[in-house]
Amino acid sequence: MNEKNFKIVADAAELNQAAAELLVKTAAAAISERGVFSMALSGGSTPKKLYELLASESFREQIDWTKTHFFFGDERNVPPDHNESNFKMVNEIMFSRIGELPQENVHRVLAENPAADAASDYEQTLKDFFNNELPRFDLVLLGMGADGHTASLFPESSALEENVRFFAENWVEKFGAYRLTLTFPVINNANNILFLIAGVDKAKVLGEVFHGSLKKYPAQMINPTDGKLIWLIDEAAASEIE
Ligand code: 6PG
Repeated sequence: MNEKNFKIVADAAELNQAAAELLVKTAAAAISERGVFSMALSGGSTPKKLYELLASESFREQIDWTKTHFFFGDERNVPPDHNESNFKMVNEIMFSRIGELPQENVHRVLAENPAADAASDYEQTLKDFFNNELPRFDLVLLGMGADGHTASLFPESSALEENVRFFAENWVEKFGAYRLTLTFPVINNANNILFLIAGVDKAKVLGEVFHGSLKKYPAQMINPTDGKLIWLIDEAAASEIE
């Protein structure tokens, strides 16, 4: 594990403040270098506060939204108005509150369609944006489940083996449903990968992710080819990490 990019903060509020500051810096660097900032968003509950912060007075002015492109690291196979939808969550908390963000800069997964169609459509969206090359996001935001999954790459699911497609449908037995997810080659090709992890329920698996000899969790397969991997963890989740 790369100890250098590892920060333990007191609680979820501090976690999201640190994440927002890091995001502003990363966006400014990308935009000054290449005129664009591309980011893959995470779902779940941990980043909600971060999305709120980014849309708030204290951060909204610090990002050039006209040059920022949002994608989804994963999505549920539901319509965009469904309570399970990551797009719905981010739209309500962030997109809808940032007037300066052009609609065409939000690249939604058409998750209302059958999973395989939604995945191949999004594959094309990624190809179009990244000129048919392996997508290289400036920042991929990830969470981690208590089972060690990340994005929608769940233990023992087929997408763990996918190393050609950029984005894939992934049957998740425990939900009896498809999820839609970026694959490891795309995530690991990012300039920056930021894990945002909070809560005591993550502590046990995080201890194993950091110190376990076996690579048995999807989160352990996140190793950037030549980008940076940053772990932002609150004290509750870090309690089993030496
Ligand atoms: C999702 C996420 C998922 C999430 C983890 C952690 O669509 O649910 O992308 O990978 O990051 O499940 O979720 P919490 O932040 O809610 O613990």
